[in-house]
Amino acid sequence: MSSNTVVRLADEFREVMAGVCTPVSVVTALTSEGRPHGTTVSAFASLSMTPPMVMVSLDRGSDLLAHVRETGRFGLNVLDSRQSAVALRFASKGADKFAGVGWETHTGVPRVLGSGGFLGCTVADLVGGGDHIILLGTVVAAESVPGRPLTYHDRVFGTHAALEEASR
Ligand SMILES: Cc1cc2nc3c(=O)[nH]c(=O)nc-3n(C[C@H](O)[C@H](O)[C@H](O)COP(=O)(O)O)c2cc1C
Repeated sequence: MSSNTVVRLADEFREVMAGVCTPVSVVTALTSEGRPHGTTVSAFASLSMTPPMVMVSLDRGSDLLAHVRETGRFGLNVLDSRQSAVALRFASKGADKFAGVGWETHTGVPRVLGSGGFLGCTVADLVGGGDHIILLGTVVAAESVPGRPLTYHDRVFGTHAALEEASR
């Protein structure tokens, strides 16, 4: 493939992925010193029902990934539509992302208060995929909270809207 073709493919790939509407979550872990750390992700999906498992894709350079490798646990905080500021905060780099954010320890991982749902997971496997690592997590705790989900589509935050009954 010529370098022009590679650049065009990468641009088109980005555009197609921008059109995929995703949920927004904060993946969390405790550091070896017991400090909370978290990272905003859109690449999260359900994987298995028996046993309950999920998968999350993290950039190989993610600091959160290093903490998950150390502790073997992670939390998934599915964000509510009122938490776009939380999503932006955890999409940055740094050790103090939890400053001013309400949280508690749940099944050995940080749970962000006010989130729309929480999954506590243990790491079942780590699978390489290009420049990312896929965390395969076994769910050991699950709590749903009624509300509206925070979504990411076309590079902006939003929420889900049901279609009119007649057009389903
Ligand atoms: C809406 C949104 C979705 C994101 N999804 C992912 C993702 O799925 N995987 C990932 O590795 N980074 C994702 N990021 C980028 C990370 O949040 C960002 O690189 C963060 O600074 C990594 O922090 P860390 O090094 O402390 O782990 C996303 C950012 C935003 C704003």
